[in-house]
Amino acid sequence: MAEWKIDSRGATELWTIDGESRRNTLTRALVEEMEQQIARVSGQRHVRAVVLTGAGDKAFCAGADLKDRAKMSHDEIKAWLILLHRAFRAAETAPQVFIAALNGVAFGGGLELALACDLRVADPGAAMGLTEVKLGIIPGAGGTQRLPKAVGVSRAKELIFTGRRVPAAEALAMGLVNKLSAPGGSVSEALELAAEIGRNAPLAVAQAKAAINGGLHLAWDDAALLEREMYHPLLNTKDRLEGLAAFHEKRTPNFRGE
Ligand code: COA
Repeated sequence: MAEWKIDSRGATELWTIDGESRRNTLTRALVEEMEQQIARVSGQRHVRAVVLTGAGDKAFCAGADLKDRAKMSHDEIKAWLILLHRAFRAAETAPQVFIAALNGVAFGGGLELALACDLRVADPGAAMGLTEVKLGIIPGAGGTQRLPKAVGVSRAKELIFTGRRVPAAEALAMGLVNKLSAPGGSVSEALELAAEIGRNAPLAVAQAKAAINGGLHLAWDDAALLEREMYHPLLNTKDRLEGLAAFHEKRTPNFRGE
């Protein structure tokens, strides 16, 4: 059975975790299917953005499925961590912009999934946290690495060491989410954000994402080299000439992703 409900909305795809009764927890089947969907969409340049959300209004994703976990061997859990790292990293390296629409709570792996997205829009009633130490484990889907980059080392340590559940307004204040939506409006506002980004030159947005994500771990000289490497292919694009022409002609550019 499909774990995600996939809807096409023009140049954006809306992917909804179809597991409302279990609060959209992460299962192996769900993460494997996510990896397959990312591989598919990566080759479809007409899709400019992907909005991820959870079914219902209670949870974006309540994290790893703790009922499954109780039955897993050590080796199975180690393989699960590798799968999570690979699938979430795939979202970061895909050319599309990934936006998490946090329609409800995001705990543990649920917040780690949102952190692997490029942008996050949260319902004002949402709450989020990396709660793993309360269960005797640590975040294992990239949370110890991505949270410090999102909110700074000091705040990340506080959130991870306490396992505290942070309300949406506080998450916004610390930069953990980009914006709060109107109540119940996280998906529609994430789709609007995707449309705003989609009006820009698609190849340029993809190259900017690759430059930002690729440069995060690099020393300056390597990061500057990467930035130039991401810039250079854009010199040959029709969209660059269209951008210059539109500026001269005082009109809105018509970008085609070429
Ligand atoms: N793993 C497995 N099942 C989970 C789950 C999880 N992480 N989170 C919720 N569920 C299940 C519940 O066990 C319940 O199942 P049941 O109907 O068979 O009893 C169902 O989802 C609904 O959960 P419930 O707690 O009744 O709903 P709620 O809306 O009141 O609360 C949460 C939702 C997410 C706030 C709450 O379930 C919770 O805190 N879950 C744990 C989240 C967590 O610690 N995640 C980190 C994992 S590392």
